[in-house]
Amino acid sequence: MTRPCIVGTGSTIPSRILTNKDLENIVDTTDEWITRRTGIKERRISSNGLGENTSEMATKASESALQMAGISPQSLDLIVVGTITPDRQFPSAACLVQDALNASKAVAFDVSAGCSGFLYALSVAENAIAAGTSRCALVVGAERLSAITNWEDRSTCVLLGDGAGSVVLTPGTHGDGILSTHLGADGKFWNLLYSSEGSAKIPEVLDTIYGKPFHLKMDGNRLFKKAVGRLADISSAALKHNGLAHDDIKLMVPHQANMRIIRAVAEKLSISMDRVYTNISRYGNTSSASIPIALDEANREGLLKPGDHLLMVTFGAGLTWGASVVRWCF
Ligand code: ACO
Repeated sequence: MTRPCIVGTGSTIPSRILTNKDLENIVDTTDEWITRRTGIKERRISSNGLGENTSEMATKASESALQMAGISPQSLDLIVVGTITPDRQFPSAACLVQDALNASKAVAFDVSAGCSGFLYALSVAENAIAAGTSRCALVVGAERLSAITNWEDRSTCVLLGDGAGSVVLTPGTHGDGILSTHLGADGKFWNLLYSSEGSAKIPEVLDTIYGKPFHLKMDGNRLFKKAVGRLADISSAALKHNGLAHDDIKLMVPHQANMRIIRAVAEKLSISMDRVYTNISRYGNTSSASIPIALDEANREGLLKPGDHLLMVTFGAGLTWGASVVRWCF
């Protein structure tokens, strides 16, 4: 079976920094509370007119990944973007990226899977390459969560940030590459994390038109408990599927939702924190963008060498979750 290799990574974050101290002036919170409960110190917030819309950040991250891979956009035959904050409900962010890159031969579409958007998108591209229907794919996670943040809700606004990350996939050799991706979903718990209005729900469309904002709502405490169990279980299943033990993992790149969740999962998996990449203190939770941004940073810091095993694991709205095991190629 042909395994896809990650041959380039890229990421971008908005220039504007919003610190915990800044948030103390916006809602009733403290730097101490946010740091202790989440591990977040600051996050990046997009500004209009600076090329920081979701599709613009997705494009910048992708240019950087393509440059690292030494591949031209015209070689791409597939673009999949994981996002819950596309610029518009339609067309997809992926089509806007295809246009901006002039990747005229690529099929392009978005995947909506909450914070699991990147791994869901990766799995689509992985299967397309394994099936031989794609030879060169771009997989992106990009979010402008600040656009759907309720800046009066201290229980969510302190958590979220903006950014984008991207990877380029091509068929690998020698059995290296993405070994397997495992996904899960449970719509029964959709109401633990959702957007307050949906444009296809007719009465709520009117609310939106008349100025009621479109916000993210979350039951953080119940999500927290579900997240730890799901993340640990799917990671264990992914390792077992590939005959790997926790010691075989060189680096874990988890979704960056809460430092306490990351530590609890690492402990359950017996993976020491020096093998877990975190950047949550600098960016907060950027949903679909969090894993590809962290992966790009880890890669550029030289933390991955050919043959190393990488575990990526995520959990988010839906509920959705997923884990991917990769034998690094380059
Ligand atoms: N500052 C100060 N106090 C606060 C704040 C704040 N920013 N936010 C909440 N509090 C208060 C609450 O009002 C509550 O006060 P009370 O005890 O008087 O009622 C107290 O702090 C404890 O609140 P909890 O919600 O129980 O706090 P918890 O320890 O659970 O931390 C958090 C909250 C950080 C949201 C945590 O639950 C979490 O990280 N949950 C998981 C989030 C997640 O995984 N999301 C999925 C991915 S996100 C995506 O898909 C977009």
